[in-house]
Parts: sequence; C-alpha cells; structure tokens
Amino acid sequence: MKYFKGSIFHTPTHGELVYIEDALIVVNETGEIQAVYQPTDAEYQATLAEAQESDNFLCLGKGQYFLPGFVDLHVHAPQWPQAGVALDEPLNHWLDECTFPLEAKYGDVTFAETVYQDLVDHLLARGTTTVLYFATAHLEASLALAKICGEKGQRGLVGKVVMDHPEMTPSYYRDDSAASALADTETFIREVQKMAEHVPQGVYPVITPRFVPSCTDESLAGLGELARQYDVHVQSHCSEGQWAHDHVIERFGKRDTEVLRDFGLLTDKSVMAHCNFIDEHDGDIFIETGTAVAHCPISNAYFANGALPVKRLKAQGVEMGLGTDISGGFSPSLWDNIKQAVISSRMLEDGVDVTLPQPIRGVASSRISVVEAFSLATQGGGEALSLPIGVLAPGYIFDAQVLDMNAQANQITGYGVFNEPEAQLQKLLYLATPENIKQVWVQGQLVHHQS
Ligand code: GUN
Ligand code: FE
Repeated sequence: MKYFKGSIFHTPTHGELVYIEDALIVVNETGEIQAVYQPTDAEYQATLAEAQESDNFLCLGKGQYFLPGFVDLHVHAPQWPQAGVALDEPLNHWLDECTFPLEAKYGDVTFAETVYQDLVDHLLARGTTTVLYFATAHLEASLALAKICGEKGQRGLVGKVVMDHPEMTPSYYRDDSAASALADTETFIREVQKMAEHVPQGVYPVITPRFVPSCTDESLAGLGELARQYDVHVQSHCSEGQWAHDHVIERFGKRDTEVLRDFGLLTDKSVMAHCNFIDEHDGDIFIETGTAVAHCPISNAYFANGALPVKRLKAQGVEMGLGTDISGGFSPSLWDNIKQAVISSRMLEDGVDVTLPQPIRGVASSRISVVEAFSLATQGGGEALSLPIGVLAPGYIFDAQVLDMNAQANQITGYGVFNEPEAQLQKLLYLATPENIKQVWVQGQLVHHQS
C-alpha cells in the first residue's frame, strides 16, 4: 500500500467542485485508489498510524494540494517541433506548407524518438498523465511513440494516422493505398496490445483516420470494420472549421458526424477533435453513439476562428474533455487551455456566434466557470476515454499532481484575503506554472518531480 495525506481538489461530476481537507488516500499495489478518508471518518486515525509506519507515505505541507492528473484528448506528437510556428496562416496553408513536410520526416525513427522523448517529458512536467496522441502515417515511428509513453510512465493512447486520399494528401506523405493503410493499422493495433502486457499504466492503440477529407471511402469503411473487430479507441477531427465542414457535405451529401457514424467510426470509445460546427442533431448522434468531443480552445481560436459552444453541448449531455492540439495549439499545457476555455466561452457569450448562418452578437449563457474547465481537463477526459481516471476517489486510478503554492520560483498567495479553498484553486488554475508542479504520479508511481 501507498499512503498520501493532503488536501484534494477534484470534480467527481462535471462542474461540481469537491474539496477534502487533509484527506488520506490509500493506493494499492496496482495503483488503484482503495480508500479516501476525511479526518472525521472512523478509519482515519488508525489508517494514519499505519501510514506513519509505512515507507510509502507522502504527507503534503501547507499550501500544497493534490489535483487529478490532466487528460489531454488531442495531441499531434510529431508537430511538437512546430509549436508556435506559422500560427498566422490559415489551416490549409499551415497543413500543406508546414505540417505535412514536418510529419513526413518521421520516416526517420531516430528523429521521431528524439522528439517524442522530449514531448512526453514536457507533458508530464505540466501534470498531463494521460494523452490521446496522433502520431504520423509511419508504422515504425508510431510504435516508437507508444513505447516511449510506456517507458516514461505516461498513459498513452496512440494512433497511426491514416491519410490515403490521393487528391487530398501530398504525394510525399500519404499511405500507399487504402489496403496498406488498413494492414498497417491492424499491425499497429496488435503490436501495441502486445506492448501493453508489460506497461502497468496502460498503452492503447487508437484507430486514427486523420479527418474525413484525407481518407478514401475504402479506408474509412475498413477502419470502421477494424473498430468493430478490435473494440479499440477511435479518434479523428470533426467539423473543425468551415472548409472541412462544407467539404464533407459536398462529398457525401451528409454532415461530418453522419459520415463518421455511417462508416462505424463513432463508438463509446471515440473522441472527435474540435467539433466547432456541430449542431443539436450532431450532438444527438454523439450521445447515441457515446462519442466524446476533444475541446481544443487555443487551437480553435487560431485555426477555426471560433469558440465551441461548450455550455450548450454539456447541457445536451455530450461527453467532453480538453485538448492542447499541439501544434495547432502552441502550448503543451492543459493549464493554458483551461484558461482559454473560459476566455473563449466568454467571447461566445459577448462576441459573435460564428456557428449560426446569420451571425448574431453573442449567445446568452455561454460562459463556463474555471471549475467547469478544470472538470474538462480531468473527469471529462476520463469519461471521454471510458477509463477510471480524472477523479481522486475509490475505484479510480491514482494519477495525480502535487501543486505547491509556495514554490520559490512562482509563489502564489492571496495575501491572507483569499484563503478559502475555492479561491485557492482558482488562483492555482490561473497562476500556476510548471514550477508549482512538485510531483506527478501515474498509476501510483512517481513519474516526475522537482526538489
Ligand atoms: N485537420 C487535419 N489535420 C489536422 C491537424 O494536424 N491539425 C488540425 N488542427 N486540424 C487538422
Ligand atoms: Fe488536431
């Protein structure tokens, strides 16, 4: 057993903050949370005595808190070298001129390993314990990413990207054919599932059509069949911007969500990135199929010129988590995306709703709280992936970050005026930097720390 004593912030249900002062968390050998006791519980004192006898006891000090590890639902690992570059271009130019030439370089596995090792370290240092990754179209480099997640202790869900449409992808960077894309995807699924036998925190293969425009009908149908056969996660981009949304309607006479559903790509293990242009009917399709949205607010501000109607979709019942979308989003930090989720929702409320045919100024009741955004980065991400993560409660896996408000390089204080727990959390969510993340734990194992 491992024992962790300290105050907890988490949201067991969306948007509802729970604070437990001086909690005592008991974690078993497999990294699962066995019990969370409050000081008033009958078992508390006896368990504390056990903890104090144990070699595996972490006791937090004043101004230190346990938060659930963050779940990043949308990262393009190969785009990490490009973070911050060419963000003043439109999406199609950015993809064609910058992104595809960069991703093509991952035929070189040594280059891939160098980038991927660095990226996983950066994400862990920012408290991101689980990541849903797009790799590239290359089988070997995609396997290397899964292996590196496994070695570094991060829970990685990794997809070999499929992009085989000869008119929509560059000749120097595409799958050779639908048949080879499907064969590589099946090999990838099997290899990662083999790898997973030796990775305690889990590593998962993900079926990954890049987005509908980049895939032929044949590959989309084949990937849907693989999703049925192997029951693994599925990810793609859906209705990200006006161009992609219109292109799918023109090609199929149906909406993006309908096309993905009809090819068998929407399941309760599917996560669709962006979804800025989805309406209530699309939301119903997501609810019926159990599909979740990866909300990428920084990226959306740049490349979709939009703000996802988070409040409306959550009220409808759509599952949703948060994504950095490296490098459409420049930041590797979900802390930054939590802030942007709040900012974008306020701009939707007070600014222009670009999702309507006749843009009007503002949509009432669009704004979300920072606690709702925190939920998306934690509990919402776990729910989206159908994994028991994102909450610090019995039955969940112990993935956690230890936040220290007294870090020398970035002291965060309310000067005795803002002492109540909710204000402390709000200050952390707005002001914390990697310097305040003292430790990061995945599946009960320490994977990052600073003195
Ligand atoms: N649509 C297709 N590919 C991409 C990508 O790499 N990034 C983003 N933001 N949108 C995409
Ligand atoms: Fe993306």
